[in-house]
Amino acid sequence: MQVTLRVQRFNPEHDTDPHFESYTIDADAMDRILDCLHQVKWYRDSSLALRRSCAHGICGSDAMVINGVNALACKVLVKDVKQPITVEPIRGLPLTKDLVVDMDPFFSGYLAVKPWLIADDAEPEPERERIQSAAERERFDDTTKCILCAACTTSCPIFWSDQEYVGPAAIVGAHRFIFDSRDAGGRERIEILSGKNGAFKCRTAFNCTAACPRGIEVTKAIQEVKQAALFGSF
Ligand code: SF4
Ligand code: F3S
Ligand code: FES
Repeated sequence: MQVTLRVQRFNPEHDTDPHFESYTIDADAMDRILDCLHQVKWYRDSSLALRRSCAHGICGSDAMVINGVNALACKVLVKDVKQPITVEPIRGLPLTKDLVVDMDPFFSGYLAVKPWLIADDAEPEPERERIQSAAERERFDDTTKCILCAACTTSCPIFWSDQEYVGPAAIVGAHRFIFDSRDAGGRERIEILSGKNGAFKCRTAFNCTAACPRGIEVTKAIQEVKQAALFGSF
């Protein structure tokens, strides 16, 4: 079948504003949008800039806006989207070139919440691993699935208007450790997320939950972090 893509293009060396270019290619209904973009890049215009790595929904590098919806290009099939298929970069982050944005503001929000295990220095080191029950592990299972694709944060209307907001992905990253029974940094993270750029900037728009390609209940995780901040429930 023939597929028409409208792809946002922007070359900072000679464009003042982004514009769209159309490409009609041969594709299969079961091809992914990433396959279509590869066809454009490999056979039509090698200057097209896009990020991708695994091509299997694991690395999180190819989040884009496809027909107005944030998604991973390697997980959306041609048969599931209307033509012409419009492909744009994710929103709210500085545009670098074509479909590539500067991810630094996204990762600085993520790093601000210390998304790593903080051990209790007062506790003696265990001889082997830190033991955890299945129920304790289950408590934060959902947020372990995050692949840091930024689809949630860049679909959030609060983040679009205020990049100081750490964003839903950072709160998901914090949730994964706050509710981990082996971690001792919960209070520190809650303090950060109780600040002016933290979880209370969320207005429960739910765009983040709808955008997450891993099916994480992002808004629920944010609400749990807010409750932990208000009631110390962690
Ligand atoms: Fe991507 Fe979901 Fe993680 Fe957000 S929570 S960064 S949408 S995987
Ligand atoms: Fe934004 Fe998600 Fe909250 S879209 S407002 S972080 S529920
Ligand atoms: Fe890795 Fe799509 S290329 S998630």
